[in-house]
Amino acid sequence: MDIVIVKNYIEMSKYAAGLVGDCIRENDQPVLGLATGGTPVGMYQLLVRQYRAGLLSFKNVRTFNLDEYIGLDPAHSKSYHRYMQEHLFSHVDIPRDQTFIPDGMAGNLQKECRHYEKLLKKFGPPDLQILGIGENGHIGFNEPGSDFDGPTHVIRLADSTREANARYFQSPDEVPSHAITMGVKSILRSKKIVLLASGERKAAAVKRLLEGKPDPDFPASALSHHQHVILIADKKAFGE
Ligand code: PGA
Repeated sequence: MDIVIVKNYIEMSKYAAGLVGDCIRENDQPVLGLATGGTPVGMYQLLVRQYRAGLLSFKNVRTFNLDEYIGLDPAHSKSYHRYMQEHLFSHVDIPRDQTFIPDGMAGNLQKECRHYEKLLKKFGPPDLQILGIGENGHIGFNEPGSDFDGPTHVIRLADSTREANARYFQSPDEVPSHAITMGVKSILRSKKIVLLASGERKAAAVKRLLEGKPDPDFPASALSHHQHVILIADKKAFGE
């Protein structure tokens, strides 16, 4: 694992946006794996800025998001569909049919998981996968105890994840109980993985990640099986 320690959130976002920009410029038909949450917001802002400055085009880019809540309509203000529209898609020239996010409203969720996995195999794997890390070590919504060999699947969110994400909702009860997530195995197929961590809230998870022992109770540790991971952590996430 390559480790990049940066001063703060802005520097982390700049470094990550630089890697995404390079990936888009270096590939004729780039495939990006994208994450949601608070961590990548700054990176998306910088990518939109690069697009507006004419330095980047998303015309040939395909994107796959890691996860989506079950039961939230794409138009729901807290759905990851809506997040992606607000933070990236509606601001750049990416054709809508080149953006993929699991459908948390699908009538048959198992079928939707198989369908998503098929799409990933058809167009993927991502040239570059952006990941955040949960305080409990989750990647995507692969919660502690997840199978390292698992494909896209339905997951019950850990209580700690629902508590951590309650800040995005009006009340903790509104946080959905389940989600669809790309599996650890689907994530590990990506050619390059960029893991972002900012703030002291993430310091314990980063420390455990760097201990390097694969442990299903700490899903991010599966990244030690991958050849090309770059951790970009700011000083607070790195424990100063
Ligand atoms: P955050 O979430 O970016 O909102 O901290 C990261 C995660 O839970 O994977």
